[in-house]
Amino acid sequence: MAQSRVVGAFLVAAFVCLGQQPGVHPVSGRRFAQVMGPGGADWLVRPERIEEEEPDKALDAIAIQAGQTVADLGAGVGYMTWRMAKRVGPQGLVYGQDVQPYMLEQLQKNMKERGITNVKTVLGGFSDPKLPVGALDLVLMVDVYHEFSEPQKMLRGIRESLKPGGRLVLIEYRGEDPTVPIRPEHKMTVKQVRAELEPEGFGFVESLEILPRQHILVFRR
Ligand SMILES: C[S@@+](CC[C@H](N)C(=O)[O-])C[C@H]1O[C@@H](n2cnc3c(N)ncnc32)[C@H](O)[C@@H]1O
Repeated sequence: MAQSRVVGAFLVAAFVCLGQQPGVHPVSGRRFAQVMGPGGADWLVRPERIEEEEPDKALDAIAIQAGQTVADLGAGVGYMTWRMAKRVGPQGLVYGQDVQPYMLEQLQKNMKERGITNVKTVLGGFSDPKLPVGALDLVLMVDVYHEFSEPQKMLRGIRESLKPGGRLVLIEYRGEDPTVPIRPEHKMTVKQVRAELEPEGFGFVESLEILPRQHILVFRR
């Protein structure tokens, strides 16, 4: 309960409205969350995140292959990007994409500090991911999709960026579980995600329930 209050207080401070109107998804009725602003950047690299989200276990399950071209969409400061860059290796490429220039600056700094050279940054728009067309084996979104203010337009752009058979993977806090200490609009249920993605041309593959607090939801173009 105390932990829930701390997380709640943090969310009030770090999630700011970046000129986006709060909205509701026309299919599921889900209320969109506000976008995490620059005030959340440090929270994205908090040490407890390793235990809470087990990022390497999640990436093992997603099974990114060496040489692949992938995107970390809504990459923030690159917490998953640098892990993905190691997995695709020198023959592969990671697009680190976000709508906030500040996040991309921090991401570039983080890559430089780690000597990572196979990451390209992309400044996206709120309704257009601005990723290359038909180029990607995988698009990963970690704690991102619930913040989209134009989810249907974004999904159309993501679909176009994937190769035929390419995968879209969402990691989202479990909306079905009231004990997960995150505000409701920052969580999603499997039912909500499927109801919103399937009409946009994504086939549901599986929901991997191996993380302490999050779903790993795998779709294929
Ligand atoms: C909670 S943070 C997660 C960051 C990162 N994925 C991670 O796991 O560390 C959500 C990020 O999604 C980004 N975002 C929100 N709406 C977006 C959109 N339409 N396109 C791209 N990025 C978006 C925000 O700018 C923010 O950096």
